[in-house]
Amino acid sequence: MKQIDWKTLGFDAYRTRTVVISHFKDGQWSTPEKTETFSFTFDPFAQALHYAISCFEGLKAFRQQDGRIAMFRPTENAARMQRTARYLGMPCPPEELFLQMCEDCIHGNMEFLPPYGFGASMYLRPLLIGVHPQMQLVPYPEAVFAVMCAPVGSYYGAHLRSCAAVIPGNYDRAAPKGSGSYKIGANYAATFKPYKIAHEQGYTELLYLNSSTREYVDEFGSSNFFGIRGNKYITPLSDSVLPSITNKTLQEVAADLGMEVEKRPVPLEELATFEEAGGCGTAVVITPLSRIDMKPVLEEPEVSRSFLFGTDGVVGPWSTALYRRITAIQAGEAEDTHGWCYFV
Ligand code: PLP
Ligand code: COI
Repeated sequence: MKQIDWKTLGFDAYRTRTVVISHFKDGQWSTPEKTETFSFTFDPFAQALHYAISCFEGLKAFRQQDGRIAMFRPTENAARMQRTARYLGMPCPPEELFLQMCEDCIHGNMEFLPPYGFGASMYLRPLLIGVHPQMQLVPYPEAVFAVMCAPVGSYYGAHLRSCAAVIPGNYDRAAPKGSGSYKIGANYAATFKPYKIAHEQGYTELLYLNSSTREYVDEFGSSNFFGIRGNKYITPLSDSVLPSITNKTLQEVAADLGMEVEKRPVPLEELATFEEAGGCGTAVVITPLSRIDMKPVLEEPEVSRSFLFGTDGVVGPWSTALYRRITAIQAGEAEDTHGWCYFV
């Protein structure tokens, strides 16, 4: 195996060694199997391929300062996958199976677990897909649950570097009463093309508004939104954003740091009042923003409004403090007073 440069890891679909798989059929989950073929075989009519009967989770495992291995809040991911599976009418992997297969995946890929001290971790990607061959639009009680992993560093190429986001006036992520709050693959499909256009224009992130009125901030394509004014951590309450485990964690970290926390609808206008703003999620951790541009049509040059945060891309003090605290807990450098680390 080629020596991995832990310092320069990005966030890629790295080909590791072991994928752990269980099959739900005839009312039960099979004993998880560790495979090293790094491939799946499906019927070409599988529901996942035609009708996007597919959902996933994302969580990280860390080699901590004292050598122990910890997954970060994995029971939250297990519960969220069950909620998503119910939405799709799929069999739900029980928490115990979810945790066991994540642990098996770590143990089957130990050479890919980044050592302590490089700002890197092992990203675990549990995937649940409908494999039954089917034309009819009805759930079927059969699924494959697989856990794979990749060693990762920073999602955007550098930790805690501020970036620009764009609000695309002609693209939505989630319909009202739709699937936005569930971690289904289809939600991400809608972001691929606008991401490509945004990246070509120098924007790192897409910020979506609520699609019914476009008056409130929802979330980024990859992560939740937070804004900071004074000592307040403010994050949108919306039934079309993904309930982020990182955001939930940061709300508690913010309170521990003496901040006030508000979770409520965030009017678009309020963006102009934030001193700091950013995205938060497992992959991105915290992405501080230097600016958000609104574009009526993403493909066109017109920018109707810009919101600026901080000066010269300097990351604000609260975003820095939040980032430092959450990453210190994950690395075992700060006391885990909330019991978020799940030791393997
Ligand atoms: N929002 C979206 C659309 C996401 O894809 C993610 C990533 O998982 C998040 C928010 C953040 O959620 P979490 O903190 O649980 O990773
Ligand atoms: C995560 O943060 O775990 C995600 O699934 C986001 C994805 C865009 C990488």
